[in-house]
Amino acid sequence: MSKLLSSSLLCGAATLAGLGLGATAALAQTEVKIGYALAPESHYGVAAAKWEEVVEAETGGAFEFKHFPSSGLGGEREVIEGLQIGTIEATIVSSGTLSNFVPETGVFDIPFLFRDLGHARAVLDGPIGEEILVKFDDVGLHALAWGEQGFRHITNNRNQIASPGDVEGLKIRTMENPVHLKAFETLGAAPTPMAWPEVISSLQQGVIDGQENPLSVIVSVKLDEVQKYLTLSGHVYSPAMLLVSKSFWEGLSDADKAAFEKGAAEAVVAMRGFVDDVEEDGVATLKERGMDVAALSAEQKVAFQEAVQPAYESYYEQYDKALIDSIIATE
Ligand code: PAF
Repeated sequence: MSKLLSSSLLCGAATLAGLGLGATAALAQTEVKIGYALAPESHYGVAAAKWEEVVEAETGGAFEFKHFPSSGLGGEREVIEGLQIGTIEATIVSSGTLSNFVPETGVFDIPFLFRDLGHARAVLDGPIGEEILVKFDDVGLHALAWGEQGFRHITNNRNQIASPGDVEGLKIRTMENPVHLKAFETLGAAPTPMAWPEVISSLQQGVIDGQENPLSVIVSVKLDEVQKYLTLSGHVYSPAMLLVSKSFWEGLSDADKAAFEKGAAEAVVAMRGFVDDVEEDGVATLKERGMDVAALSAEQKVAFQEAVQPAYESYYEQYDKALIDSIIATE
């Protein structure tokens, strides 16, 4: 290197140091707008923070995550559409509207499909889950990993629930998800599919009696402030997904892609850890906050499984019965 060049580089570095700027800050950072429906203190917020932390560490701070929690960029469907057109880079979403983009994801929304969290994680992390993730590349998205919310439970302001008869005519909000809608119709409820940002005000105004979500959501959103009864129905497992825009993904170097993948994998560990914790202490928290909480007994659960059974005919038609059976058979 010529004397002149090396001294001007030294001079530049000294100027940056003098201005209090490290080499990292001097580099242009790529902004990653990440939108999600829940607060920073939720399982989504914890996962998004971990994702950011790992990407930052792996890339020397080349990316700046700009967080839009609490539906700051709109409902989940709008955010996914934003990813498709490239105005939003990343999101963490429930399976609520995913089957509108990749219909095959709906198979995981079938009620009473998974025995427990371990069973669901084994299926999602195995070949069945992987096969569905890759399908997102066909619709302007890139799916990095399956996350998790937990098992969904019913909350409402009308009555405690012990039998399918207790949900008869119940105005219950479902996600914009045809599999869930079919299940509640079959149970004789009056389901209303609704985007999440409208749910709290609809509960406050009595437009709907209830909704269903996992403990992770019920606790972090403080649904106890607008709902009296919680029935631990565990009627369906609620997966989540870490997605990025396909155009954003294709613009990344291989090393940056690896950083995003590593970050997503660690974010899932953090999210599942959060779910494990809230499954342990969430009920006590909600009781302390004044909710009337009851769990379906094993017998009562069987009554719900039997009542929802007719919906399985349409699930078998829509998703391969062999696939549903192989999910059930996964250890
Ligand atoms: O019920 C829903 O729509 C989802 O579970 C939520 C709360 C938006 C989290 O993804």
